[in-house]
Amino acid sequence: MDIETVLPSWDGELCSVLFDRETGAWFVIAVHSTRLGPASGGTRAMVYPSVGDAVADATRLAAAMTIKMAVAGLPMGGGKSVIVLPAPRAALGDDRWRRILRVHAENVQKLGGTYTTGPDIGTSSADMDVLRETTPFVFGRSAATGGPGSGAPATALGVFAAVRAAVAEAGLGDGNGGVAGLRILVQGLGAVGARVAELAAEAGAELLVADVDPERSAAAAAQGARVVSPTEVTRTRCDVLAPCATGGLIDVRVARTLPCAAVAGAANNQLADAEAALVLARRGIVYAPDFVANAGGAIHLVGREVLGWTEDQVVRRTLQIGQTLHRVCADARTYGITTEQAAHALAARRLTDAA
Ligand code: NAI
Ligand code: PHE
Repeated sequence: MDIETVLPSWDGELCSVLFDRETGAWFVIAVHSTRLGPASGGTRAMVYPSVGDAVADATRLAAAMTIKMAVAGLPMGGGKSVIVLPAPRAALGDDRWRRILRVHAENVQKLGGTYTTGPDIGTSSADMDVLRETTPFVFGRSAATGGPGSGAPATALGVFAAVRAAVAEAGLGDGNGGVAGLRILVQGLGAVGARVAELAAEAGAELLVADVDPERSAAAAAQGARVVSPTEVTRTRCDVLAPCATGGLIDVRVARTLPCAAVAGAANNQLADAEAALVLARRGIVYAPDFVANAGGAIHLVGREVLGWTEDQVVRRTLQIGQTLHRVCADARTYGITTEQAAHALAARRLTDAA
């Protein structure tokens, strides 16, 4: 991917790209839309094949945040930051990492509140505490510094609500979202996936897990989960596939053979191409659009830090993700469109109403 290809086909408001000579890191901040309020979305820090790939990721993820906020009914726009690390985090050393965070915070500060960041893959609440030393435009600081912590537990709660709704829509289980005895395959046992796996196991599901980190799969296996090779995730028969790792898992080819009845997970941008949603729908696989299913983290962060909600209010709003998915599935049936299209239409209505 190169910037010349990515940016002309993106309909966002701003994309800043900076290089820091001292650390060798690149910094991308994409503000997709401020129509519903100031843009917000997490900071993703990882090694990328190229800066163009990072810009592609940031711009796509920022657009997904706009839709996520709109569907969740939150008064925020969509943005995202990507830090292109010169080496994996573990190899960077703490001083270099701190400098990277400071440079990023200075960039966020320069936007003057147009964009507020938060945790995402490769960044934690402790990192948000460091950013907060330089800029106030940060969500998800640790509880120790008076913040609400990362949104991961809320994201997991919302994903599980989506799993239950998807199961009911697929006509599986007791018809009311009960998952007892159903095979749920969780790909990615990080902050969100590990909790989704726990919730599924507590509800009586037969748990299958896959992670590229063998220690994480081993920990789940010790709790009774069956371990699946990360390369076999899309070929393993299950009732619900819950992608909770990185995006792009399901392209049109995978969609043609995916052996499950429903897909509901946390990963942003699970579909690698638009046709994948059509193929899933044609095969009768219930697909919970990722930006619907994974809104719990945004609900937690924006609810606590912008809207002054209590934890109970956050939980209530997060559980409504199940109802939102039912509505999206109903709209998809009524209009003969995919759930992805129905959820986009819902977001578009909210964005138009706000104009
Ligand atoms: P994380 O970084 O804590 O966990 C990701 C896990 O996936 C790790 O255990 C990693 O080893 C594993 N993994 C990576 N590539 C894999 C592969 N190819 N196969 C199997 N496992 C693989 O990330 P976190 O916070 O749990 O987020 C997971 C996903 O959910 C990400 O896509 C993130 O953008 C999305 N998300 C997270 C939210 C949050 O509140 N943390 C909110 C909304 C979306
Ligand atoms: N990165 C998470 C997401 O994609 C959490 C987050 C939400 C971070 C909103 C910042 C703002 O939803």
